[in-house]
Amino acid sequence: MAEFQKETLGSPLDGSPPTSVMQPFIEIDGVSKRFHLSRSDYVDALVDISFEIYRNEFVALVGPSGCGKSTLLRMIAGLDEPSDGVIKVGDDHPRELIAKQRVGMAMQEHGLMPWLDAVGNVSLPFRLAGLPIDPERVEELLELVKLSKFSNARPSQLSGGMKQRLSIARALVLQPDLLILDEPFGALDAVTRRMMNQELQRIWSRKPTTTVLVTHSLEEAVFLSDRILMMSPNPGTVISEYPVPLPRPRTLETSREKDFLSLVESVTARLDEICATELLS
Ligand SMILES: Nc1ncnc2c1ncn2[C@@H]1O[C@H](COP(=O)(O)OP(=O)(O)OP(=O)(O)O)[C@@H](O)[C@H]1O
Ligand SMILES: [Mg+2]
Repeated sequence: MAEFQKETLGSPLDGSPPTSVMQPFIEIDGVSKRFHLSRSDYVDALVDISFEIYRNEFVALVGPSGCGKSTLLRMIAGLDEPSDGVIKVGDDHPRELIAKQRVGMAMQEHGLMPWLDAVGNVSLPFRLAGLPIDPERVEELLELVKLSKFSNARPSQLSGGMKQRLSIARALVLQPDLLILDEPFGALDAVTRRMMNQELQRIWSRKPTTTVLVTHSLEEAVFLSDRILMMSPNPGTVISEYPVPLPRPRTLETSREKDFLSLVESVTARLDEICATELLS
């Protein structure tokens, strides 16, 4: 099993138990992924990755472009298969979880249905799961993401931030066991993005859910997560782990505090190091 560097930047300040005594929910064991480009050519996107994610833990995956973050996320979500190794989510194969509609997903491309209004888009997971639509739950979610006034608006009538909020509402509507977020705020300006980070934290705190977030923003990773896993490319692997021992709720003030800034600085320095090695190789 490949071991990666575990950074010890402090212990949890919010009284939560150390991850070592928690139950693993996602187990990734010796996972590799090879993409065949032609009969003789291939890319080893991921090689021998092993780690665990605990129930209700919020984990951020960061790393340079092309290091395999989305590939790993897709396999955790059950949308793709490893070439080698095993992924288990709550003792099941990830495919079983997604088949049961227990995975909520929000991606950089919001993936909303342009012909459906906000209510229709948030109701979609009920229809896909063959379940009767629960209008109260749909309304509750629209309220949670502050879009009640726009329940009859189509995506084309919403701003970028509103579309992102709507796709998060859709991801949460069936109370998933696993929330998968791939650069959900990548298209937003810095101010809207910070607001969305606060929104997501508020929503997540109301009902903590095991969450894996891929982001290029290290501030976002520190702001939202319990733990950051840093990946490096060629071949993609997890190289370092950073616990984020900052108490919640985290606010705009938190993001100006010394502990927050020094953690962002450590993670940034590591990423710079990885990118520099990459450029020299
Ligand atoms: N379907 C595919 N077929 C062939 N190669 C692929 C496929 N999907 C991903 N790859 C390759 O796998 C590697 C990892 O890609 P991936 O999209 O997971 O990276 P990433 O870390 O998410 O990058 P970014 O930050 O730019 O989104 C890249 O070399 C990419 O070219
Ligand atoms: Mg990606």
